[in-house]
Amino acid sequence: IGINYGRVADNLPPPARVVELLQSLKIRSVKIYDANPDVLKALQSTNLRVAIMVTNQEIEQMAASSNFSDQWVQQNVAAYPATKIETAIVGNEILSDLSLRQTVWSKLVPAMENLHSSLQRLGHGKIKVTTSLAIDCLKVSFPPSEGAFRDDVSDTIIQPMLKFLETTQSPFFINVYPYFAWLDDQLTISLDYALFRGPSSNASQAEDPSGMHYDNLLDAQLDALVVAMTKLGYGGVQVSISETGWPSRGSVGASLANAADYNRRLVLRILGKNRKNKNHGTPRRPGRLIDTYIFALFNEDQKPGAATERNWGLLYPNGSKVYDIDLTGKTPVPALPQAAIPGNFSTGNSSRQGQWCVAKADYVSTADVQDAIDYACGGGKADCAAIQPGQACYLPNLVRLHASYAFNSYWQKMKRSGGTCAFNGFAKLTSVDPSKFRSFSLFLWFLFQCSLSFLLVCF
Ligand SMILES: *[C@@H]1O[C@H](CO)[C@@H](O)[C@H](O)[C@H]1NC(C)=O
Ligand SMILES: *[C@@H]1O[C@H](CO)[C@@H](O)[C@H](O)[C@H]1NC(C)=O
Ligand SMILES: *[C@@H]1O[C@H](CO)[C@@H](O)[C@H](O)[C@H]1NC(C)=O
Ligand SMILES: *[C@@H]1O[C@H](CO)[C@@H](O)[C@H](O)[C@H]1NC(C)=O
Repeated sequence: IGINYGRVADNLPPPARVVELLQSLKIRSVKIYDANPDVLKALQSTNLRVAIMVTNQEIEQMAASSNFSDQWVQQNVAAYPATKIETAIVGNEILSDLSLRQTVWSKLVPAMENLHSSLQRLGHGKIKVTTSLAIDCLKVSFPPSEGAFRDDVSDTIIQPMLKFLETTQSPFFINVYPYFAWLDDQLTISLDYALFRGPSSNASQAEDPSGMHYDNLLDAQLDALVVAMTKLGYGGVQVSISETGWPSRGSVGASLANAADYNRRLVLRILGKNRKNKNHGTPRRPGRLIDTYIFALFNEDQKPGAATERNWGLLYPNGSKVYDIDLTGKTPVPALPQAAIPGNFSTGNSSRQGQWCVAKADYVSTADVQDAIDYACGGGKADCAAIQPGQACYLPNLVRLHASYAFNSYWQKMKRSGGTCAFNGFAKLTSVDPSKFRSFSLFLWFLFQCSLSFLLVCF
């Protein structure tokens, strides 16, 4: 079991102390989000295996120049001969960031190829090169047997990337969060199913039309990815979980008890054996060990966004545990102390049922928003028929209304597989039904049209 050592915080201990903490937790591998020199130095001469990252900002340069990737390897790999670097990850979740679509997406595979060649050339050929993608690279994640990649990236980016991974025998790194899938769809997905607590009820298990049986959401999500890869002809590529976890506070479903349950059961699931004394794997890949990095080592106080974002850690910044966990998988869950439940925890009330994803009122440029609409209606698979000229929702022809329609259609479709209501910051979630706003705009528009004809008639 590995861990993500994120550092978006202003109160974390120095790297040397962090290494002691990693060792006291008996962690085997650590993943960082850059190639920070202090961290790589602190990891020297330890047994910890390390995954480093080429940042999203460096991808274009790395794709453009093997000189750049050579230098990157010299500076960030060759300079630390005593650090056990095993994996170099090119970019984090870039296919989930629409602002990178025009510039960086197409550079991903060339950058991976350049880095791989540089590593080979400079004598570090054992280091695997991959990228971390979010589960929203899938357009279908349920049922697992219908898993498929998004159309806008499937042939252009994912296909060549899988080819690269297969040729170099590198793993597909996926960030996968049953928490978010559950949060978005609490009516359909039971908490027990998301937390590996099944099979306590029918709701906490799922039958796939293929006949396969799922008793937890993580397996179903991973198998959807496996099916999607298989459809492109790369069913043999290994899958590793580059991030997964559960927040301990900040929103519905986020509690010490649930976070402890998820991560404890995850460890047992990954490291534990099934009856045939093999790794559990997933229904489609039984017996396989799935390398897994838990998110995250620390609660990170500077992370933007929802309160949960700052509460994914196994440790507080002062180094004490948020809840007990045995990352060696040797202690059965019931033997660990019950994690406290602060206050009452309810599901349902603040769920995302009855929410809409709409355009924000204060966006800057109409062209950018139009770009986002085009994405939602194109690769994003939103159903945009109604906002075409002559159709029911075309009038009033206001970009903001069309954007809201397209964004919401996208989000309602994609939220289960991890799609977010972001659209470069143009979109937000609301519990106010957007059709009310549309009726009002329509009313104003007619009023304006009428007064215009009045002016034409009268003057
Ligand atoms: C590679 O980069 C170095 C340092 O920036 C520069 O001196 C050298 O001329 C570059 N070589 C090529 C072939 O671009
Ligand atoms: C669970 O599913 C089985 C088979 O579909 C059904 O017979 C049973 O009544 C269900 N139980 C509950 C509690 O819904
Ligand atoms: C560490 O921080 C947590 C959260 O702020 C606090 O509850 C705990 O008491 C602290 N532990 C120590 C040893 O200071
Ligand atoms: C939690 O819920 C129970 C039962 O509804 C109630 O008696 C108790 O006061 C609640 N505790 C808190 C801290 O709100």
